[in-house]
Amino acid sequence: MSRHVLAIADLADEEIESILHRAEEMEAALVRRGDAGALPRSAAGRIMATLFYEPSTRTRLSFEAAMWRLGGAVISASDMKSSSASKGETLADTAKVVSSYADVLVLRHFWDGAARVAAEHADVPLINAGDGSHEHPTQTLCDLYTLKRAKGTLRGITVAIGGDLKRGRTAHSLVRALARFKAKIVIIPARGMEFPGWLLQKVAEEHGYRPTVARPGDLKALARDVNALYLVPARPHQLTLFTDTEFDLEERLAEAEPITLDALYMTRPQRERRDDTTDDGVEYLRVDSDTFEDPTMRHTVLMHPLPRTGEISQDLDRDPRALYFRQAASGVPVRMALVEMVLAERVGCEVGTASTRAEPGATRVGPRCANPNCITRREEVQSERRFRFHREPAGRAHLVCLYCDHETRIQVIGNRKSKRYHLYEEPMYGYLDAWLREDALVIFDSVKQAEEAAYKPYKLGPQKSIMSAQEIDRALDELTDAILRDTPELKDLVIVGVRTAGAFLAQRIVERIRALRGAAVDLGVLDVQGGGDTIPSWPGAPGVEGANVTIADHHVVIVDDVINTGWTAKDALACVWRAGRPLSARLAVLVDRGHRQLPLKPTYVGKHLPTAPHERVRVRLRELDREHRDRVVIYSYVDPKAAA
Ligand code: NCD
Repeated sequence: MSRHVLAIADLADEEIESILHRAEEMEAALVRRGDAGALPRSAAGRIMATLFYEPSTRTRLSFEAAMWRLGGAVISASDMKSSSASKGETLADTAKVVSSYADVLVLRHFWDGAARVAAEHADVPLINAGDGSHEHPTQTLCDLYTLKRAKGTLRGITVAIGGDLKRGRTAHSLVRALARFKAKIVIIPARGMEFPGWLLQKVAEEHGYRPTVARPGDLKALARDVNALYLVPARPHQLTLFTDTEFDLEERLAEAEPITLDALYMTRPQRERRDDTTDDGVEYLRVDSDTFEDPTMRHTVLMHPLPRTGEISQDLDRDPRALYFRQAASGVPVRMALVEMVLAERVGCEVGTASTRAEPGATRVGPRCANPNCITRREEVQSERRFRFHREPAGRAHLVCLYCDHETRIQVIGNRKSKRYHLYEEPMYGYLDAWLREDALVIFDSVKQAEEAAYKPYKLGPQKSIMSAQEIDRALDELTDAILRDTPELKDLVIVGVRTAGAFLAQRIVERIRALRGAAVDLGVLDVQGGGDTIPSWPGAPGVEGANVTIADHHVVIVDDVINTGWTAKDALACVWRAGRPLSARLAVLVDRGHRQLPLKPTYVGKHLPTAPHERVRVRLRELDREHRDRVVIYSYVDPKAAA
């Protein structure tokens, strides 16, 4: 069977063990590399293509060195930005093309799940050298190799992992591997940089294990005050619950069983992957020779995937417990062993390894993945199965992206046969199951999306008009006045309408401003489903074809037709944020129907309209309406269980 290595889960335990064993032989052979025949020639005549869309020193050079040492050759674009990617070529096309030049591909990319998309299109094995914040399985092989050599075993050892666990892909792959090999894990995230929920969920599901959580400050405190540095709680689940609250160390000590820490694995803050600056100035674990002076740390080894950015003081570099340079050096023998395995196993190629197999219960259609950095939001993927279902005990269900592993809440479900949709509620899980079995299930991001796909709500009650054309006009006049009152300098203002109805309302506001003040305010159209980094200008405006509005250093007013739960507004804010750092962001809505699930308050509201959850408010605008009439209507839909 051929083999892509996209995630650490793609390698079976025995395979990892055999790679680590073979890497030791490779390391010995490298020492004797001057002797004829010392190095295996297992890649003779084969070519590796390295595709790096992100900076790399260790990973790329050690992959390339490994290939040369095995007697193979390497081809590579010196900088993927100067490749066809700069002309807009998709990753899928690049992978397809380059795989016809090489026998193995090594990819590093900034989008989560990129490796999987490339593998789907590659005709040769592909190795993931880091995809966004998702996984970095070959770094984990180096980490395990170094750790096992230092400690003799992985089973039962205690490893603390500290730093940016939210975005650090090396930590993501490592925690999954350590749990598999039955190591005990203590995690020390900086505040706001905790492991993502999907990851801990996976570790819990797959290995029945939840790591213990500690705070950066604990490391020193514990080293000073108790005999053992780290603590395995008697009731780990309870401790995990405390991650977000302050809790008393004494109390934990009373519950804990002392053990020694075998390794401390540090990671750097992934500044280039941050979507906000809320974590500026948070307490980050930093270690120096003082930390390692405590007698309880006599046998604790210190690891880091590098590059370090101040987490580990240089005064530890000569300390025999500092293993980070050995980790980096292990890159060559470990990747030699891996490449040899991948090339030897090649018998035709298909995406069918452990983590790529279409899972039972995977959904054919699905909404957009909730992770803004997921490749499925940036590039069309061919795979029909983008998600699997995950059902929680309480009947709550969400989708898990097969590309980036992130979770997406199920909001609106539809039936392809009846062309009807319904808001997803927990008791409806049975329908979800049944429709899935009948291949009739469609999942939408929002009611808006369902209606735009011409789905009707499950059995409509009678429609009632709640705002006439005149009332809509008056509300828009008032919204415009209020926006103008709050905006001293019109040149700094940008109005952004949420597709589709919000965009037409925004356009009407811009027209009103032009009539009142004679000023042309920039108008953008935002697609919360789109996921890009720019907001296109309103189409049709002269001279702005294909242009984007400028968000940075502007006051932005987001306009939408209806606010209900607040999720669309939150997504819209996130889109604005990705397009630039505004001076301020305000939200204007025609109707607030108020079933907020998020603490979001629109700045300007045309009409407050308390509604029942089963009611649906629809803003019909003349630009979009068959009768070319403006009105707001309300109707209710009937529970499909009652309808059935
Ligand atoms: C890591 C990476 O690229 O994720 N570096 C590496 O491969 N050794 C870690 C990092 O950049 O922080």
